[in-house]
Amino acid sequence: MSELSVTVSLVGTDDWLTDIRTSYDTVADSYAGQTREALDGTPYIRAALALFAELVSAGGGGPVADVGCGPGHVTAHLHDSGLDAFGIDLSPVMIDVARREHPGLRFEVGSMTDLPLADASAAGLVAFWSLIHLPDHALPGVLGHFRRALRPGGPLLLGFHAGETSRLKTEGYGGHPMKVYVHRRKPAFAAAALRDAGFAVEAQMLVDPDASLPGAVLFARRPSAPTGR
Ligand SMILES: C[S@@+](CC[C@H](N)C(=O)[O-])C[C@H]1O[C@@H](n2cnc3c(N)ncnc32)[C@H](O)[C@@H]1O
Repeated sequence: MSELSVTVSLVGTDDWLTDIRTSYDTVADSYAGQTREALDGTPYIRAALALFAELVSAGGGGPVADVGCGPGHVTAHLHDSGLDAFGIDLSPVMIDVARREHPGLRFEVGSMTDLPLADASAAGLVAFWSLIHLPDHALPGVLGHFRRALRPGGPLLLGFHAGETSRLKTEGYGGHPMKVYVHRRKPAFAAAALRDAGFAVEAQMLVDPDASLPGAVLFARRPSAPTGR
């Protein structure tokens, strides 16, 4: 009986990751087309990325992981800000697109649920609108990986949809079929999850708070001092 329930739960876990991977494989090209210039029109997001770059540099610099990088425009922006930025994404087609769009940068296929980074190897980590598809139950494990991969004192920058609702997205980026849940989260919920994972939460920003789909940006840091974790 217990063996059966373990099997069922593992199959369920694989399903949602497979759905995300397949969905972003399908939309990779059109997503790249729609987001290539996206940062040009978002001064507050650019300001958050500039502040993040300043925090990484103030800590001595080093490799910065853009986790769930998609087509790599944020990775490239961080690189242009002077950081040694590289990208990781679940979708192999997204990674192909990122390599094509930014041939001088490093991009690798990998999942944040099993983050392929050595302990304390990242000087900073960004996850921009890539946690939005993750079910709540997967958050502690993923944030644990982020904390593990960051050097003590390393900053973390999260961007996500602010709100409380979740919906199943069945098409996107020009009518292509998708099957992903999109989870909006309250900044206070995300901040609590970060604290639970051992992060110090340092700042938050709401972008377009009166829009139908506000954005949230959170700055956190792996504490320098030992916390017993
Ligand atoms: C909405 S897009 C965001 C892309 C990019 N960060 C941006 O800001 O435009 C979500 C991205 O997260 C990636 N992603 C979702 N789940 C992931 C996981 N478990 N590990 C790595 N990447 C993941 C998807 O493949 C997709 O490229």
